[in-house]
Amino acid sequence: MAKINDNYLKLKAGYLFPEIGRRVRGFAAAHPEAKVIRLGIGDVTQPLTPTILKAFHDAVDDLAQASSFMGYGPEQGYDFLIEAIIEKSYKPLGVELKNTEMFISDGSKCDCANILDIFALDNTVAIGDPVYPVYNDTNVMIGRTGEADEKGYYQGLVYLPCTEENGFMPAFPKERVDMIYLCFPNNPTGAVATKEQLKGWVDYALANDSVILFDAAYEAFITDPSIPHSIYEIEGAKKCAIEFRSFSKTAGFTGVRCGLVVVPEELEGTTSTGGKYSFNKLWLRRQTTKFNGASYPVQKAAAAVYSEAGWKETKENIDYYMENARIIREGLSEAGLTVYGGVNGPYIWLKTPAGLTSWDFFDKLLNECNVVGTPGSGFGPSGEGYFRLSAFGNRDNVIEAVERIKKNLK
Ligand code: MLT
Repeated sequence: MAKINDNYLKLKAGYLFPEIGRRVRGFAAAHPEAKVIRLGIGDVTQPLTPTILKAFHDAVDDLAQASSFMGYGPEQGYDFLIEAIIEKSYKPLGVELKNTEMFISDGSKCDCANILDIFALDNTVAIGDPVYPVYNDTNVMIGRTGEADEKGYYQGLVYLPCTEENGFMPAFPKERVDMIYLCFPNNPTGAVATKEQLKGWVDYALANDSVILFDAAYEAFITDPSIPHSIYEIEGAKKCAIEFRSFSKTAGFTGVRCGLVVVPEELEGTTSTGGKYSFNKLWLRRQTTKFNGASYPVQKAAAAVYSEAGWKETKENIDYYMENARIIREGLSEAGLTVYGGVNGPYIWLKTPAGLTSWDFFDKLLNECNVVGTPGSGFGPSGEGYFRLSAFGNRDNVIEAVERIKKNLK
C-alpha cells in the first residue's frame, strides 16, 4: 500500500474556518427560524465594482473571438497587470520593483503555502501566536515539525506571542531563526507595525541572514498615513523579505482569486554546499513547473482596480468596510468589551467576557445572538480568551449584530 504523508495526522482538528462552518450549519439546521449573521471568516460581501466587472466581461468577450483569444498566459502573470501594480501601488511608496520580481497568482493563501517549496526543510521558522493558521499548518504538513504539545504548540516551530502586554507586536526570537512570518495589518489582531518596528525586523533579518515572509494582504485597509504598506519601504528589505499581497479583501476577489508575491532579485539563500542562490530564480522555476498562471479575465479584472475609476470605486468599498469596523469597535466598547484592531485593518479583536473561553463565547454568540465570529484560540494558544469579528459584513447585518451583542451583554 502507498504510504500517506502522515504529517497531516499531526494536525489536531479540521482547518479553522470549515470547522466553524460545520458548527454553524449544525446550528442553522436545528434552528431554521434563526437569522444567523456571519462575521466569522473574512469574506467580502460587496459585489465587484462596475469598472472591475466591465473589464472582467470584456476579457471574457476577448475569449469569444479567434482574433483576441488568449490561451496559456505567462506563468508569472501578464505584464499589463504587473506594470499596473508596480506603477500604482509600489511606486507611490517609493518602492522600485522590476517586472521579473513580481509573480501573479490565484490567491495569497496558496502563495503563503507554496512558498515553502523553495526553502530547505531544516530551516528554523518563527510565527506569531495568534496567527493566520495557514503559516502554522503548512509547516506541519510539509514535515518541519514534531507533534503538538498539550497547548497546541508544534515542536520545532518558534512561536512569538502577540499579547495585550506587548501590544500584539511579536518580540524578536530568542534563538536565531531562518524564516519569520510577519503579517501587518495583522490577521487576527488588527495590529499594525510602524516604520520603526518594521525596521527593527529588517535589521534583525539582515543581521541573522533570515528571510521575512511578509503578508500584506490587508495593506489597503491602513488609514494612518504613517504606517508602511510594504516592507520594501524599509531600506535593506529587498535583501531579506518576500512580500505577499492579495486582491481578495482589497477588491472583493475572495471568489475570483488573484494575489501576488514579490521575490526580489537581491534576495539570496545558501545552498547545501555553502554557495549562494537566488530565491527569485527558484520561485520562477517552481511557478513555471507547478502553475499555469491566473486566468486572463481575472488578471484583466485585477488590472482594472488600478484605473482611475476602478481605484475610486475600490476605495469606496474599503471605506465601507472600515466604517463597519468603526461601528463594531465602538458598539462593543459601549457594551463594556475590551476591543482592539479595526482602525487600520478589517478585524476587531476583543477580549471575551471574564470566565469565558474563546469557544464558550463563540457558542454564546451563536446560540444567544445568532452571530458568528471566530474564536481567538483557533489562531493559536495566545489567542485564548479573545474573539475576532470581521468587518466584511453588509452594513445592516453589522448594525444588527452589534445591537444583538450589546443587548445580550447588558
Ligand atoms: C480569514 O478570515 O482569516 C481569512 O478570510 C482567511 C483567508 O484569507 O484565507
